[in-house]
Amino acid sequence: MIGVFDSGVGGLSVWREIVRELPDVPTLYLADQAHVPYGLRPLEEVRQFAEGITRFLLAQDATVVVLACNTASAAALHYLRAVFSQVPFVGMEPAVKPAVQRTRNGRVGVIATPATFQGELFASLLERFARDVHVIPQVCPGLVEAVEAGALDTPETETLLRACLEPLLTAGIDELVLGCTHYPFLRPLMERIVGPKVEIIDPAPAVAQQVRRVLENKYGAGESPAPHTFYTTGDPTQFAGAIERLVRVRSEVRPLRWDGDEIKALPDETDPLRRASPP
Ligand code: DGL
Repeated sequence: MIGVFDSGVGGLSVWREIVRELPDVPTLYLADQAHVPYGLRPLEEVRQFAEGITRFLLAQDATVVVLACNTASAAALHYLRAVFSQVPFVGMEPAVKPAVQRTRNGRVGVIATPATFQGELFASLLERFARDVHVIPQVCPGLVEAVEAGALDTPETETLLRACLEPLLTAGIDELVLGCTHYPFLRPLMERIVGPKVEIIDPAPAVAQQVRRVLENKYGAGESPAPHTFYTTGDPTQFAGAIERLVRVRSEVRPLRWDGDEIKALPDETDPLRRASPP
C-alpha cells in the first residue's frame, strides 16, 4: 500500500501519476487541510505535521510513504528517513537538474512556496546543478489557496499568476520549474501566460517512476482496479468534490482530526453500517 500526503489537494497531481504508473497498487491519500497552506509556516512546524501524518499512514499499513509536497519534503524528508529508518520515503524537490540540462539560454525560473526556498534541499540543488545557470526563485502568494478553492481558471487567479510569472518572463527564462504540487493544476492557464517558448517542467511523472523503483515490483498484479482511500483533516465533502474535479475520481473521503501531535479517525457519517446501526 502506497501512502501519499500533502497539505491539501496539490499532491493529487502526484497521486494521479503514481496510479498511472502502478495501476494495480492500492493507495492511501491524506490531505492535511486543517493546516493548508504549509508554505508560509516555519519548517519545524511542517516537520511535526509530516511526522504525525507518517505515523498515521504507517498504522494504516502503508509500506512506502510519498511526500507529494515540496514544502513537506524540504522540511522533513531527511528527518523522517532518520526517524523511520526501515521505511522507504519518496520526496519531491524542484526539478532544477532537468531544467538546467534543457535550458538553451541559461535562464531558469522556479516557482515554489517560501518554505521550500528556505530549506537546505533547495540550496543544495543550486549548489550541485546550477553553477553555470541563472536560476531565479519566485514565490507566488495566493496560488495554493486558489487551487484549494477550485479557482483554476478565474480572472483573480490569472491576475495572481501573471504577477508571479511576469518577473520571470522579463528575466527571459525558457524553462519554468513547478516547485509546488498544487501548481500543475494551473498548467493550462500558465501555458497561456508564458506562451510556447517557455517549457514547463513538472516532476510528478519522474516521482511516480521513483515510487515504482522503490516498490521493486514487489506487489505484482493485485486487485483491478486497485482500491484507493482518501482522508482529510479538513472538510470531507469539500475534498470529495475536489478529487472529482481535479482527478476525475469519485470517492468517499474519511474524516480525520488532529489530537495534539497525533491524527485520529473521526466516525464516518457516510458509513452505511454506522448509519444503519441503532443510535
Ligand atoms: N503542495 C505543497 C507543495 O508542494 C504545499 C503547498 C502549501 O501548502 O503551501 O509545496
